Amino acid sequence: MSKLRIAVQKSGRLNEDSMRILKDIGISIDNGKDQLKASARNFPVEVFYLRNGDIPQYLKDGVVDAAIIGENVLIEKGKDIRVAEKLGFSTCRVCIAVPKSVDYKGIEDLEGKRIATSYPNTVNGYLQENNISANLHIINGSVEIAPNIGLADAICDIVSSGSTLFKNNLKEVETILKSEAVLAVSPILSDDKQAILDKIQFRIQSVLKGRQ
Ligand code: PRP
Ligand code: MG
Repeated sequence: MSKLRIAVQKSGRLNEDSMRILKDIGISIDNGKDQLKASARNFPVEVFYLRNGDIPQYLKDGVVDAAIIGENVLIEKGKDIRVAEKLGFSTCRVCIAVPKSVDYKGIEDLEGKRIATSYPNTVNGYLQENNISANLHIINGSVEIAPNIGLADAICDIVSSGSTLFKNNLKEVETILKSEAVLAVSPILSDDKQAILDKIQFRIQSVLKGRQ
């Protein structure tokens, strides 16, 4: 019998809540994060612990069948991937921020500026919609440090509590999108896997209802 392969974030802000929702729908996973793959004891499911940024491509290729992932990552890297369910946790927004000392008047102030980000597609789309051209510096983490070390004039990254912006003397000036964790589904899915997914989705809906 085939098993549904579900990807979850290996470590980071989504991991804990992702494991909690699996547990709440009755899928108990034996091991911790030490192994990259684990089978559920009582359900035809395998859980893969993967890096956030890799998950959209694995979904596209059908390497995994479904994933618990931030919408922001899908928007950046997996536009054509279907969202089956919004999960209501790990809410954040993707924002542009500039140093607090900057007298920011509007998006035209970003024309010709250097923007550090891990979300180049998202920022580019937003800048294009607004007819702004800027120079992107793509970095994978600690983006908020960039203006302080003279690498960029602005940053674009996710904001949750706002404490990283605050600590780095930055202020949010543009909100590009809002995001939360979602259950995303591979476009390549056999009928028997779809049936397992339907069961999971049904259970998720009851758990989410109970949480309200
Ligand atoms: C994430 C994100 C922001 C921060 C937002 O970084 O890139 O920097 O969290 O959260 P906050 O608004 O609650 O402060 P993370 O700590 O995951 O590290 P990284 O950027 O180095 O990957
Ligand atoms: Mg960060």
